[in-house]
Amino acid sequence: MLRTGVRLLALALCVSAGGDFDWTKNEKTSFYFGTFPTGFSWGVGSSAYQTEGAWNTDGKGMSIWDVFAHKKGKISSNETGDSSCEGYYKFKDDINLMKEMKLNHYRFSVSWPRILPSGLRSEHVNEKGIRYYSDLIDLLLNSKITPVVTLYHWDLPQVLQEKYGGWQNASMVGYFNEFANLCFERFGNRVKHWITFNNPWSISVEGYETGEHAPGLRTRGSGAYKAAHHIIKAHAKVWHTYDMKWRSKQKGLIGISLSADWGEPVDVSNQRDVEAAERYIHFYLGWFATPLFHGDYPAVMKEYIGRKSGQQGLGASRLPVFSPQEKSYIRGTVDFLGLGHYTTRYVTQKNYPSGFGDSYFADRDLAELVDPKWPDPGSEWLYSVPWGFRRLLNFVKTQYGNPMIYVTENGVSEKMPCTDLCDDWRMQYFREYINELLKAVRDGVNVKGYTAWSLLDGFEWDEGFSERFGLYFVDFRNKNKPRFPKASVQFYKRIISSNGFPSQREVESWKRKAVETCSSSNQLLAADPLIGHMEMVTEIVVPTICTLCILLSAVFFMFLLRRRL
Ligand code: BGC
Repeated sequence: MLRTGVRLLALALCVSAGGDFDWTKNEKTSFYFGTFPTGFSWGVGSSAYQTEGAWNTDGKGMSIWDVFAHKKGKISSNETGDSSCEGYYKFKDDINLMKEMKLNHYRFSVSWPRILPSGLRSEHVNEKGIRYYSDLIDLLLNSKITPVVTLYHWDLPQVLQEKYGGWQNASMVGYFNEFANLCFERFGNRVKHWITFNNPWSISVEGYETGEHAPGLRTRGSGAYKAAHHIIKAHAKVWHTYDMKWRSKQKGLIGISLSADWGEPVDVSNQRDVEAAERYIHFYLGWFATPLFHGDYPAVMKEYIGRKSGQQGLGASRLPVFSPQEKSYIRGTVDFLGLGHYTTRYVTQKNYPSGFGDSYFADRDLAELVDPKWPDPGSEWLYSVPWGFRRLLNFVKTQYGNPMIYVTENGVSEKMPCTDLCDDWRMQYFREYINELLKAVRDGVNVKGYTAWSLLDGFEWDEGFSERFGLYFVDFRNKNKPRFPKASVQFYKRIISSNGFPSQREVESWKRKAVETCSSSNQLLAADPLIGHMEMVTEIVVPTICTLCILLSAVFFMFLLRRRL
């Protein structure tokens, strides 16, 4: 009861806070030296199908990705995640890598068919699968690394796809809840951070609209909306189950991980561009975030999809409708928002006439553009535009009442195997994106942690192993799948140990403290290249500039004196 009261109050605050994002205020400021708040959590991420391998081992059932990847022509070079990084066998080695980096948390996902091979709890629980995740969690905790567990990172049990049509079918809501409940029952005494769904936009659009991802359906203009509708309800049901049954004992948090690119108006002084950019974000992030924070789909989605459905002669909107009871049931069901972010687009208004056919993309009436000057080192879609990250974070703050945020994914890929392990573009990307995150924290955005994507090179969905996001290079040709640190491992490790990019003042005060306590740690600080630049500023650059100023003033005075004489 008390909780409901608090939720209503929070809602009132959220609604009043929504909508005041200032589109014109795009400060592309220079690098900011400073640190994150104490206790800020640094981590890396992975997902089951991308890294575990062991696709048919120890009683695991098949997932839609096992089946999809085995079909010819679906994945680049017809690769599969059958063995991938063999993470199922090598998790102890991987935790050692994490300890080395001094990570605070590790985000991984549970493969639903590994613990429920047919998808249904009533049919069979695979204890070997449970044991695997249980051991992983124990070892993480023994290593002082907090597990952040995603329940659904895209690998639906194949049986549920075949029997019911997967997320198109409302029965998934109940099945997913049973699976989640089993996870709370077996792991909830040790796991305190749960993510129900990873990137439901991708599940819906790439799984049911374009068919690039499993289950590979192309039900244009309707399937994605239906899938999303059931995913939102499934998330809310799991949140309520946890709230009623587990929260008081286990004291965990239930979040969701939403991914979104930033959309910047091509011309901020043009109202139509601003509205197009706003639509872009609402069709991306708002599609899921607005129901979960405010209880219904964004008004602009209802308006556009409703109008276009009418023009197409349909009796009802292709966007499903939440009943009043459902609205209050789904509203406020996020304890924290997981945010995945990689890139940005420029957006402008573009009309898609109704004869164009049904499609999620046509419903938005906009065009996406990129600046050819933006660096694009890896995946074709991934341009490095760090300032977009700060904009997105501030948008979330203003639209959804400044919720608690964990960045659940951020990183960059390479296409050419980086065999010399010198991934300087990744270091650059992390440096700039994490710096924009720091600026957002300074803007007052409530971010509690950051997760670099990903620990290892892995199976990059329809791109197979051709795109590598890992901090660690994995030699997939060698059956032992050895891991090698890319240069970015040391770089990220330094960001973690400095908790950001310390300013000169912070470095000085650390040094003073270090001198007081132990002189050896002082040497360690001075040797750290991240803060080494501060040494250079104080010991070389500042004295040089002062000397030059004095010399110039002397010359100037001599010149003046001469003229007087
Ligand atoms: C997915 C990851 C994937 C990444 C890069 C994210 O949305 O959750 O699994 O590796 O995109 O494509």
